[in-house]
Amino acid sequence: MKIFLDTSNIDEIKSAYNTGMIDGVTTNPSLIAKEGKDFKEVINEIVEIFKDTKDTSISAEVISTNAQEMIKEAKELVKIHKFIVIKVPIIPEGIIAIKELSNQGIKTNATLCFSANQALLAAKAGATYVSPFLGRLDDIGVSSLDLIKEIRTIYDNFDFKTEILSASIRSVDQVSQVASLGSDIITLPPKIFKEMFKHDLTDKGLAAFLKDWEELQNKLDK
Ligand code: G3P
Repeated sequence: MKIFLDTSNIDEIKSAYNTGMIDGVTTNPSLIAKEGKDFKEVINEIVEIFKDTKDTSISAEVISTNAQEMIKEAKELVKIHKFIVIKVPIIPEGIIAIKELSNQGIKTNATLCFSANQALLAAKAGATYVSPFLGRLDDIGVSSLDLIKEIRTIYDNFDFKTEILSASIRSVDQVSQVASLGSDIITLPPKIFKEMFKHDLTDKGLAAFLKDWEELQNKLDK
């Protein structure tokens, strides 16, 4: 399963990239706004971090709500770098844009997906990725894991190539949960990515190993 980072913070991306575990980055207008910097400047900085990788995926979102305008924005964004994937909201105009961009060989990430029917439309339109927002669904009492299961079944039934990119992740437990349900990718806030490495028993176990080792060295030195 691929792991993307869901942030526009350059320091966080650099630090996570250095672990060798990050396959891409997703951004959205809210995450860009949080950094208070120019959109294209941020995207260029992210591209720079990944410049030595063979293949990666950096999602940049359009802000138009009209298909032709979305396509125009997309064409400008893909000029930045071949790694750029165009994030398009699943609204009727967005589906038109995704279909056209896909016909032109431009990669897309169909975002703000909250239902299996929306995921079906995104796949039919030829989206490269579909982004179901798990946390926001759980917030309103709808099971996000059931949605992942349903999308997986539909995509497998019809051999759709669109990859499921689980987004809006709120807890580290959701990582292994969506992995076991067959999500192709998960995009994580940096904090949750860091939590993936952690277990109290690992820390306690390591401390005990090092202590025993040191005691043995002290004994042997005597
Ligand atoms: O990638 C989409 C994600 O950023 C949305 O997350 O936490 O704002 O629901 P959240």
